[in-house]
Amino acid sequence: MKRIISLAVSALILLSLAACGRAASSASSASSASSAAPASAPAGSASEAPGSDGQTSSAPSASAVQDGESSGRVLVAYFSATGHTETAAQAIAQATGADLFVITPAQPYTAEDLNYSDETSRVSREYADESLRDAALAETVPEGWDSYDTVFIGYPIWWGVAAWPVSSFVAANDFTGKTVIPFCTSASSGLGDSGSLLAQAAGTGNWLEGTRFSSSVSAEDVQAWIGELGL
Ligand SMILES: Cc1cc2nc3c(=O)[nH]c(=O)nc-3n(C[C@H](O)[C@H](O)[C@H](O)COP(=O)(O)O)c2cc1C
Repeated sequence: MKRIISLAVSALILLSLAACGRAASSASSASSASSAAPASAPAGSASEAPGSDGQTSSAPSASAVQDGESSGRVLVAYFSATGHTETAAQAIAQATGADLFVITPAQPYTAEDLNYSDETSRVSREYADESLRDAALAETVPEGWDSYDTVFIGYPIWWGVAAWPVSSFVAANDFTGKTVIPFCTSASSGLGDSGSLLAQAAGTGNWLEGTRFSSSVSAEDVQAWIGELGL
């Protein structure tokens, strides 16, 4: 009898340990998805990421691309205020043979406009009041838009989200039938919800999760990522 009780207690202990292990593992993957933001540039708001057309795929990977969903022409559309995202965009275009489209605000940002340490600067005012974010772009629809199957969308992170000229770009274009791959550069924040917020703003397209590069991104970093995508 003693032996049976001892066996039952051991089994209970083993079951409890297994349950703890599972809880620890899911907490760790949730925390690895969170992102840091620089002290001087607070991160933006979070949002949920649903998973149909116009939303970020829940399990984005290179497989959708490799399965032939997007075997045609590739476009890299990007906004870059100070040149870091442009470096990544050009490296992607070189590695994939893509065309480039520069998302240009009708009223470009000067260095003074970009000074987020000054609460009266243009970006600070636009951050505080979304209605001030001028949606106008110099050109909205890239030439030959319908012929692109895969579109990389590049942007700097501003206060934890995509710099807003990119939101104007995605809201104004129809991504139906296209695979969309966001990429960003930042001082320290992660990709966060920036891609899924853009997917929501677009409302169409098969959006993959994409990636974040450091501001000091190199062509080698980009090539390694493109290699993983299997384009
Ligand atoms: C208005 C503004 C807000 C920023 N907010 C963040 C931020 O929240 N997190 C972060 O890591 N970097 C932030 N940065 C830094 C930029 O994301 C980073 O320097 C980026 O690489 C710039 O890309 P670009 O040269 O293509 O414009 C911010 C920069 C600016 C101008």
